Amino acid sequence: MTIDNFGTKASQASHDNSVWRWWRGAHLATLSSQAGTPAWGWLPQGDLLTHGDQIAWVGPSTESDAALQHLLTAPERAALDPIDLHGLLVTPGLIDAHTHLVYGGHRAREFDLRLQGATYEEIARAGGGIRSTVAATREASDEALFNAALARARTLMADGVTTVEIKSGYGLSLAHEARCLRAARRIGQTLPITVRTTSLAAHALPPEFEGRADDYIDAICQWLPQWHAEGLVDAVDGFCERIAFTPAQIERVFHAARVLGLPVKLHAEQLSDSGGAALAARYAALSADHLEYLSDEGIAAMAAAGTVAMLLPGAYYFLRETKLPPIAALRAAGVPIAIATDHNPGSSPTLSLPLMLNMACTLFRLTPEEAMLGATRHAATALGLGHSHGQLRAGHRADFALWAVDHPNELAYRFGERAGRGVVAGGQLITA
Ligand code: NIG
Ligand code: FE
Repeated sequence: MTIDNFGTKASQASHDNSVWRWWRGAHLATLSSQAGTPAWGWLPQGDLLTHGDQIAWVGPSTESDAALQHLLTAPERAALDPIDLHGLLVTPGLIDAHTHLVYGGHRAREFDLRLQGATYEEIARAGGGIRSTVAATREASDEALFNAALARARTLMADGVTTVEIKSGYGLSLAHEARCLRAARRIGQTLPITVRTTSLAAHALPPEFEGRADDYIDAICQWLPQWHAEGLVDAVDGFCERIAFTPAQIERVFHAARVLGLPVKLHAEQLSDSGGAALAARYAALSADHLEYLSDEGIAAMAAAGTVAMLLPGAYYFLRETKLPPIAALRAAGVPIAIATDHNPGSSPTLSLPLMLNMACTLFRLTPEEAMLGATRHAATALGLGHSHGQLRAGHRADFALWAVDHPNELAYRFGERAGRGVVAGGQLITA
């Protein structure tokens, strides 16, 4: 079977977890290197065996016959219809571990104002910025919110993404945040990708709480158990910044998350150093995100807590930030580095994670392999999914991306080019 005629069969069999598939003739970058194995987990001639939505075996093509003998019964082997990947590059499915996909409207006008000299902070203080998206989000119907976010998720998938984290944060009330989180959950039920939802109610102060930030934090602490009880929340985030919330306010939200057993993460040190990363690390945060103004103390705290540094080159670029996150110090401290699109209408309206691979290298000087680890293996860790996602490895979910390039170096090297040829998500092939 070739990949060109596989689409219909795959969808017929997509929910059958007993189906074996043999994916042959690819270049594999497993991103699963152990000590002593080549960079990228590189296998120039490799095959994969998947069983339902899991990877059962990955290895050199010369060893796949032996693996088939070992893992499959004779009738299963007889029924197997190999899928020829024609020398495409196969990597783990990309993981976009920081997005704000659910919102109404856009902020092109604000982009224009910033080009004329207004800063992101000035626009936010004047009532624009996040608040203007909150107004547009509250006005949008459930269906409109869902359909716009679904189209965005499909665009990410066409560029190799099989797992996406989706934050709320543009509803900012009990009902509107719930609507956004439900839209995010529905994306995970509609597409074969993994969706992790994050409550970002502590994103900005809604107008009805003007001058009463502490009351709004109290409200979030009361609402959180209700969103959690509805199964809408996998993690809790906040925006710790002089235009958003103080460390003390964020800490109250983190405490409420801890009571519910929910992991936390934080938008920290994006525009100034508020000590947010160290606070997040004290709560064993999955990640601290942005980090342009991160201090040495913040780095040490993150290293000790195992908190991932989530770098967002799209927001750095789009806000024309000039202060770089402390990459060399993060590297030296052994802090795992992830990268994401941070897709949102204000600071990073991009839907291309491969473009972020390029920007992570050109702007932040990550190596191409570090950038790719940041969008796969370390991104999985940042979502608490390191055991099951982000590597081509037996026992991991059968999520991979197919690329029309010879070597994974090229994914960070090319920019603005669509090299993706489809994804396999939970064992199901979706061609681009
Ligand atoms: O990750 N920093 C805060 N939140 C978003 C931007 C939100 C917006 O401007 O709408 C971010 O950059
Ligand atoms: Fe963000």
